[in-house]
Order: sequence, then structure tokens, then C-alpha cells
Amino acid sequence: MSANHIPVTAPVIAIDGPSASGKGTVAQLVAETLGFHYLDSGALYRIVALAAQQSNIAWDNADALGKLAESLNIQFKQNEIYLNGTQITEAVRSEEMSRGASEVAIHPSVRAALVHLQHSFRQTPGLVADGRDMASTIFTDAKLKIFLTANVEIRAERRYKQLTNKGLAPNYKQILADLQQRDCRDSARIASPLVQMADALLLDTTNRTIKQAVEFVLAAYKNIL
Ligand code: CDP
Repeated sequence: MSANHIPVTAPVIAIDGPSASGKGTVAQLVAETLGFHYLDSGALYRIVALAAQQSNIAWDNADALGKLAESLNIQFKQNEIYLNGTQITEAVRSEEMSRGASEVAIHPSVRAALVHLQHSFRQTPGLVADGRDMASTIFTDAKLKIFLTANVEIRAERRYKQLTNKGLAPNYKQILADLQQRDCRDSARIASPLVQMADALLLDTTNRTIKQAVEFVLAAYKNIL
């Protein structure tokens, strides 16, 4: 086979970490700076949770959820998410769907149904993918693996501010308890748990701004080129 026929695989930067660590914002900014595509894998689990609710399927019904996840028509257009043609961008970001996502995400049937769709985001010139299992399962050959975290109180404060800025009246203690419960569920599950891979760089944003976190990832990427 000549060099022309060697398939080109686009480089991936995998950014995994717990809820409200800022990984989504950091991942999007890194993607923008590099001109890379962006995959918000958490959105897929949120979409499954929302679709299940709309179809009266319980979040613990693994078989029905797996079939549902396989049948969904999901589209990302600019910054909007569409499910079977309907725009659901805001609907999937609710706290209820945050919880729903982490409940449906424990089922191997659901995770398996979403693998192909996640792989399809890997296109030239490259991809920044954020989630829990980007480095461990979906893009094991990622060029750069980042485990982005922050202490849970800081993460709860950030989520609190986010919701306040949206005009909501959140309860800090409730947010903190929800995050702790989700951390626990995401880390303890059997299927693709949240875990820092041995070859991933730790990025603790407890005392770092978003800008500093973005600079850390860009510098690390430049370093390996
Ligand atoms: O924005 P936040 O970090 O709160 O949540 P998210 O990234 O949208 O993910 C929502 C939930 O989906 C998480 O709590 C995980 O349970 C699940 N998830 C997952 O299992 N695997 C991924 N690759 C991404 C998210």
C-alpha cells in the first residue's frame, strides 16, 4: 500500500472530568483556538434522558433505553441541538436532565448505542472531545488526554453562579449534594466510570481561571506536536 492510502486519523484532545469542573467551556475554547471540531458527549446522555422522559421510559429501563438511544435522530447545528427535528438546546441543560443523564449513563446498552455517533465527530483537522470516558473508552488513542477537575465546593459555587446568571434562584446546598451524588454515581459505575487514565495530565482548576486552563491545554498540545 502506498503512503497515499494510509488512512488519516484526525488528532483528538480528550478532556474528561467531573461535573461543573469547567471542562465544557475549556474544551470549546480550545477547539475554537485550534479550529478543531468539538464533541460535548455529555449532551448525548442528556438527550437520551430527555427522549426517555418524552416517551415515558424509566431511566432504569436498560433495554428500552438502549433501543431508544439507537433510534434517535440527533443533530448539532452551530450551537443548537436538535432531537428528531425539534430544538432542545435549553431543555437538555436543566438540572433534572443533569440527573437523568447520569442515571441513563450507567447502562452499557445506552453507552454502546452512542459509540458510533461519537466516533463520527472525529474529522480533520482534529477534535476536542469532553466527557467522562473520552480517554478511557471512546478515543483511547487520543493525542492528548486531560483530566480536568476542581474541588467540589468550588464546582458547586460555579454551578450556583451559572444558574443565578440564568435568572434562576438555586439552592447552594442542594447543588452541592447533587454534585456529590453524581460524582459518586459516575465514578462508581461498572461501565466506563469516570477515572483519570495513567497517561492523562491532571489539570486542577480550583485556583485557575478558564483562561489559564485553556492556556494549559494549548501549551500541553503544542508540546507534543
Ligand atoms: O456539564 P456536566 O459536567 O454537569 O454534565 P455533562 O458533561 O453534560 O454530563 C452529564 C452526565 O452524563 C454525567 O453526569 C455522566 O453521568 C454522563 N456522561 C457520561 O457518562 N459519559 C460521558 N462521556 C459524558 C457524560
